[in-house]
Amino acid sequence: MSRNDSVHINKQLYIGLVHRFIPDSQTGEITMRSVLTTLTAGLALSFSFASSIYASEEAAHGDAEAGKAKTAVCTACHMADGNSVVPTFPKIAGQQPGYIAKQLADFKSGARSDDTMKGMVAALSGQDMLDLDAYYSSQTQSSGEISQDQEEAALAGQQIYRAGLAKFSVTACMACHGPAGKGIQPNYPRLSGQHATYIEKQLLAFKDGSRSDPMMNDIAFPLNAEQIKNLAVYISGLY
Ligand code: HEC
Ligand code: HEC
Repeated sequence: MSRNDSVHINKQLYIGLVHRFIPDSQTGEITMRSVLTTLTAGLALSFSFASSIYASEEAAHGDAEAGKAKTAVCTACHMADGNSVVPTFPKIAGQQPGYIAKQLADFKSGARSDDTMKGMVAALSGQDMLDLDAYYSSQTQSSGEISQDQEEAALAGQQIYRAGLAKFSVTACMACHGPAGKGIQPNYPRLSGQHATYIEKQLLAFKDGSRSDPMMNDIAFPLNAEQIKNLAVYISGLY
């Protein structure tokens, strides 16, 4: 999905909190507000607000070719094209441009903690991160699939993914990650096709605060372990 695409939601009524980013015209500072919305059949939910706000961050660019030359150490776990086959190592192929560089910077600053990744990023410069981002985001993700006995869990996960949990003010995941889970450049990561084990671990980490993100902490907090498992299964088979 391109950043200026609109998403059409058909035949269902969604009520939930939608976060909007509101730039201050004086300082340029961006604040997030939660807005209660009702989305009715066929109403277009425009994501173009995200692109205009982040346009100024697009000045720095990575070089995919240079990035490829820096992947030697990453390949052992994430594979040459970023399509890891081990469920605890995330797939990073086809990720939204910008997201990988942010995560690498977060691992380096300690804003996101993981013992393995901490060592991997210690020697990376900002330009290395942009180049690695450019390389992996240009690769094609190997989509995932779920087995028949996971269907029930996936359907339960789909319900939350598409409609949220109005009772607990949990916004529909697709409002930010897109209806097909492809994400929105640069801050909303692609989720579809990701290993369920990894997704589950991240949602639990957002829930208990050990991975911090102002949006995801609020969203994951009310979810119980079963809902998290169901979402992870659904997402892993989404494409
Ligand atoms: C020894 C295995 C290993 C190596 C080598 C490794 N990683 Fe990772 N990587 C991981 C694990 C495990 C995670 C998940 C951490 C967690 O659970 O939060 C991860 C997470 C990531 C993430 C976050 C993905 C997301 O969806 O948020 C990125 C980006 C990443 N690695 C990039 C790299 C890059 C670039 C390199 C090479 C410089 C590299 N990794 C080397 C194991 C590895
Ligand atoms: C208001 C926007 C928003 C909504 C709604 C939202 N997310 Fe997120 N999500 C984000 C952002 C932003 C990040 C990236 C956080 C970061 O940079 O570390 C993220 C990251 C994630 C990640 C980590 C991906 C990775 O590769 O490590 C998962 C998993 C996730 N979200 C699942 C969900 C699920 C499931 C829902 C619905 C229950 C949901 N999100 C709803 C904004 C949102």
